[in-house]
Amino acid sequence: MSTRTWAEPYKIKAVELIKMTTPEQRETAIREAGYNTFLLRSEDVYIDLLTDSGVGAMSDRQWAGLMAGDEAYAGSRNFYHLQSTVERYYSYKYTVPTHQGRGAEHILSKILISDGDFIPGNMYFTTTRLHQELAGGTFVDVIINEAHDPLSEHPFKGNVDIEKLDALVAEVGADRIPYICVATCVNMAGGQPLSLANLREVRAWCDRNDALLVHDMTRVAENAHFIQKREEGYRDKLIQDIVYEICSLTDVATMSAKKDAMVNIGGFLAMNDAALYEKACGLVVVYEGLHTYGGMAGRDMEALAIGITESVDDDHIHARVGQVEYLGEQLEKAGIPIVKPIGGHAVFLDARRILPHIPQEQFPAQALAAALYVESGIRSMERGVVSAGRDKVSGENILPRLELVRLTIPRRVYTQAHMDVTADSVIRVMENAELIRGLRFVYEPEVLRFFQATFEPVPRASNG
Ligand code: F0G
Repeated sequence: MSTRTWAEPYKIKAVELIKMTTPEQRETAIREAGYNTFLLRSEDVYIDLLTDSGVGAMSDRQWAGLMAGDEAYAGSRNFYHLQSTVERYYSYKYTVPTHQGRGAEHILSKILISDGDFIPGNMYFTTTRLHQELAGGTFVDVIINEAHDPLSEHPFKGNVDIEKLDALVAEVGADRIPYICVATCVNMAGGQPLSLANLREVRAWCDRNDALLVHDMTRVAENAHFIQKREEGYRDKLIQDIVYEICSLTDVATMSAKKDAMVNIGGFLAMNDAALYEKACGLVVVYEGLHTYGGMAGRDMEALAIGITESVDDDHIHARVGQVEYLGEQLEKAGIPIVKPIGGHAVFLDARRILPHIPQEQFPAQALAAALYVESGIRSMERGVVSAGRDKVSGENILPRLELVRLTIPRRVYTQAHMDVTADSVIRVMENAELIRGLRFVYEPEVLRFFQATFEPVPRASNG
């Protein structure tokens, strides 16, 4: 295991040119995009920190894997390679390929949830919760309270609060809880890990209450990194062994392979239970494709199998999380309010503290993301009230305690100099923060509104 700094364990073989724009061009672009960074054209973006999803750089081995695609309709050899790789590194026996993570969430929710069920989880993810609701379930947040506090330095803010789980059982009964969905390195909490000690407690709780333990393993390798760094007894364990241990404690997994596993598209549902696999095969042919390709081309399954192997390498994951820490530490040194501890895939700016003059009803994180784009062409993403949506029953905006802008770092894509530019830009925006105005909806879609909503600045007079 290497002990050097986070320097990258790879060199660059091909580059993609990016465009520099002027402030005037960016003003026009963001206005035309309705102040929603999702609606910008990627051509108009200088450093794209919108997401870490599907935007990683594949290795030369993964690109070579594309040429080894077996595009047979049934029984592609790449499927068997993927399945054996999932079993080897993630422990799950059966793999159902899907077009991406939400495809797996869709199938799983349909199989396991009945009308009136409750699905506890360590904070929500947007698509995961929506699929649970569409299947008739209600999501219940059981993450520890520290996760909602951007200032808490708890080392495992992704942990589940077992008392909250017990309270839910007391309220609705264990038979209304088919499973708990536990995410590794919780995205919406700021890329925060859970501990293996906590996961073992959740496992025991599931066994006591006859509930399945479903693992959203989208960022499991990053979680393993934090376990190795912070959890008693894991310092000398390999990342791949920690990843395996996490997975073995769970029954079912949904995976968006576009993150940890560094492919541009793809995902899967994986499990150990043969009866559940049979049901999943029955649904994947309806919604995705035959069970040996689901939503993926043979070549993409091959690139994924190779990407999984690379993702659990110690040097890789230390460089990946090290780069995120490098950016976060620069911002911290400059006094920029960020979520602590620094997360695995992104640095989260605390928009409430950066823009205290903008009430949450005027979407401070959305406004901050737009301002950062205008300043320097950096694209980030709102993770606050716009993402949280409206309450299913009351129709009111859900006002989450975390009102964040996510600077998400793609894997193996940007350099240290890009991180420096990003930090400088955030500092400049912070210096002129009082000039930023709140926003109001021009168009609000019914579901997953953050993707396609458009906004306009609130006129100055009504901004207080
Ligand atoms: N679960 C988690 C924790 C995620 O972060 C995502 C996607 C999904 C599930 C859904 O997977 O996009 O492949 O369908 N997160 C992306 C993001 C979109 O930018 O955070 P998908």
